[in-house]
Amino acid sequence: MTILKEKRLRVLISAEEIDARCKELGAQITKDYAGQSVHLVGVLKGCVMFLSDLARQIDLDVSIDFLGLSSYGASQQTSGVVRMTSDLSVPIKDRHVLVVEDIIDTGLTMKYLLDNLRTRLPASVAVCTLLYKPENLRTEVPIEYIGFTIPNEFVIGYGLDYAELYRNLPYIGVVVDNEAE
Ligand code: IMP
Ligand code: MG
Repeated sequence: MTILKEKRLRVLISAEEIDARCKELGAQITKDYAGQSVHLVGVLKGCVMFLSDLARQIDLDVSIDFLGLSSYGASQQTSGVVRMTSDLSVPIKDRHVLVVEDIIDTGLTMKYLLDNLRTRLPASVAVCTLLYKPENLRTEVPIEYIGFTIPNEFVIGYGLDYAELYRNLPYIGVVVDNEAE
């Protein structure tokens, strides 16, 4: 490990548990959106692993788009300031949008995004997040699908980064000691 030593990571959610949960969520979404198309909107970059696994478990007409949001610098603290770093490639008007996010922590990022998307008049907007940290919530956000509710600890892996690293871990790990080497 470049910044964090392996022994300072604890596995919180294994690859097998993530796989099983993606199957359950995909089945639920398939049921809930029966007879409709779903437009998955992934929030870069943290969503990439989750969105690609989840999408393959949805048995409907699925389209996929991405946007980039940034609320964090290279630190573990939210700056509280959200900005769009890249926008969607196609309009979402009259589409059933399902936002796919890696984690909802303070909720500020999702609040900003939902307010933004609603101005574009989609047929519906719902949220699917892999992880949810309820202890840190600072604003009300509707969340239709939650992969795992976790304690207020900083997690990495399966798309989630620390200073842009560790997104490629196949599991979700907790940083036990985040001191840089
Ligand atoms: P929020 O605006 O505080 O809800 O934060 C949402 C964003 O912060 C997520 O999309 C992540 O990119 C990042 N984030 C929040 N908690 C963690 C964490 O524990 N590990 C890695 N990134 C996190
Ligand atoms: Mg994110």
